[in-house]
Amino acid sequence: MRLKDKTAVITGAAAGIGRATAALFVREGARVIVADQNFEAAQKTCDELGQATSPFACDVSVAAQCELLMRAAEARFGRLDILINNAGFGALGNVVTTDEAVLDRILAVNVKGVFLCSKYAVPLMKKGGGGVIVNTASNTASIGLKDRAAYVASKGAVAALTRSMALDHVADNIRVNCVAPGVTMSSYFDKMLREVPDPAEFRRVLDARQPMRRTGKPEEIAYAFLYLASSESSFATGSMLTVDGGATAE
Ligand SMILES: NC(=O)c1ccc[n+]([C@@H]2O[C@H](COP(=O)([O-])OP(=O)(O)OC[C@H]3O[C@@H](n4cnc5c(N)ncnc54)[C@H](O)[C@@H]3O)[C@@H](O)[C@H]2O)c1
Repeated sequence: MRLKDKTAVITGAAAGIGRATAALFVREGARVIVADQNFEAAQKTCDELGQATSPFACDVSVAAQCELLMRAAEARFGRLDILINNAGFGALGNVVTTDEAVLDRILAVNVKGVFLCSKYAVPLMKKGGGGVIVNTASNTASIGLKDRAAYVASKGAVAALTRSMALDHVADNIRVNCVAPGVTMSSYFDKMLREVPDPAEFRRVLDARQPMRRTGKPEEIAYAFLYLASSESSFATGSMLTVDGGATAE
């Protein structure tokens, strides 16, 4: 019960890594607001995870919705200990082939979303004497990836923002770190597998590219969030924890 009596907001918690993190946090004793732009999926997640969770509809790229999310956390818990900024997505494309609208949306969700949720969470955490923020970067914040220009730029920004936030709020007793996952089977890849002509071959090629010859599972990334959200990481701030089966090392 490493998060006993702790309260958490997890964005993008209705699927994939965010959902696995919510499930693990509940098992570790936390109460969790499952925030997602897909309310129906957030509701379903909460039905499955039980009474320690509540759903909240929020598009993290919209300031007013992020503010309402943190107000809901205050109303529900009276305090906020942990914010997991996990909502994010990617799209194929280099700087030539990526539409400006796609670039704007990726930056709005992946970077501005982290910024805005933190903007409204920090004052609440300060009121309670401190807290922990864990952002979601990607191992592509450290290594290049072909044909994902907007996504990679957004995740590099998340890693940089994490370091800056850590220094800004160290005196407020708020630690800020990020997790950098490698390729992890989530609903994003489930959707891709449904769309490609040969899902089995796609999966084989993806696995073969990884040093461990397999992709990660959302639960394996969730444990990194747990470490950074718990007091076990009390001396860590401004850091990036890479969990990618060795892909960055290769
Ligand atoms: N899966 C991977 O291989 C991988 C690798 C590195 C980093 N990441 C990062 O991990 C995070 C989670 O990814 P995932 O693979 O679990 O994704 P996913 O698509 O399985 O789940 C993402 C969830 O976020 C929600 N969401 C998307 N945009 C939102 C918005 N604007 N506001 C609120 N909710 C929103 C979606 O509705 C969904 O429920 C993302 O930030 C992603 O970039 C994933």
